[in-house]
Amino acid sequence: MTDQFSLQDTKVAYDAVATLYAELFSDILETLPLERALLAAFADLVRAGGPVADIGCGPGHLTAHLHGLGLDAFGIDLSSEMISLARQAHPGLRFDEGSMTALDVEDGALGGILAFYSVIHTPPPQLPGVFAEFARVLQPGGHLLLGFFAGDDPQPQEFDHKVTLAYRWSPDSLADLLRQAGLAEVARMVREPQEGERFRQAQLLVRAG
Ligand SMILES: C[S@@+](CC[C@H](N)C(=O)[O-])C[C@H]1O[C@@H](n2cnc3c(N)ncnc32)[C@H](O)[C@@H]1O
Repeated sequence: MTDQFSLQDTKVAYDAVATLYAELFSDILETLPLERALLAAFADLVRAGGPVADIGCGPGHLTAHLHGLGLDAFGIDLSSEMISLARQAHPGLRFDEGSMTALDVEDGALGGILAFYSVIHTPPPQLPGVFAEFARVLQPGGHLLLGFFAGDDPQPQEFDHKVTLAYRWSPDSLADLLRQAGLAEVARMVREPQEGERFRQAQLLVRAG
């Protein structure tokens, strides 16, 4: 599978489900008190820094949440349909079509990055390149909050995600990859699945050096 094929595959899959995804998940934070608390802590850490990118923003609900927490937040997504829905739902905010594999962002321009369940579709061999890209655009001391499905195996595990192929990662393995990209762990949260969820859910908070 080439890089381009993988990206195109993911884009086509999310374009096809964008409206349904927005209907199902735009209010999801109401059911996630632990994630809300982490987002509030993330906002406190990055508020005094530069702009904050919600990378893989989907229909923009988390970008809007970050904006509501006082951040200069904008969204980026591979799916043009997702970006279109995000712009409709949140006309005052900025949403750009783009890929986390090659961000159209200056070096050191961001105070923070939120990547909430958006690196899950990245083929494992390509993930170090994505993390290098995150490290490139973060200012020193900037933070990344990364949400993903947790697994126990040190190797990433492919699973049948409802939209398109995805991977579960052990928090230790992802923390190692992030460290190799210059992003040092600050904190992590792993919680058991709630009703309707299949896997443990993990968040890693890391800081650029
Ligand atoms: C599971 S959804 C998560 C959306 C949102 N962050 C949320 O938590 O509801 C994954 C999103 O990541 C986007 N995505 C996947 N690969 C991407 C890439 N290489 N660059 C930018 N966005 C990507 C998809 O288009 C999709 O909108």
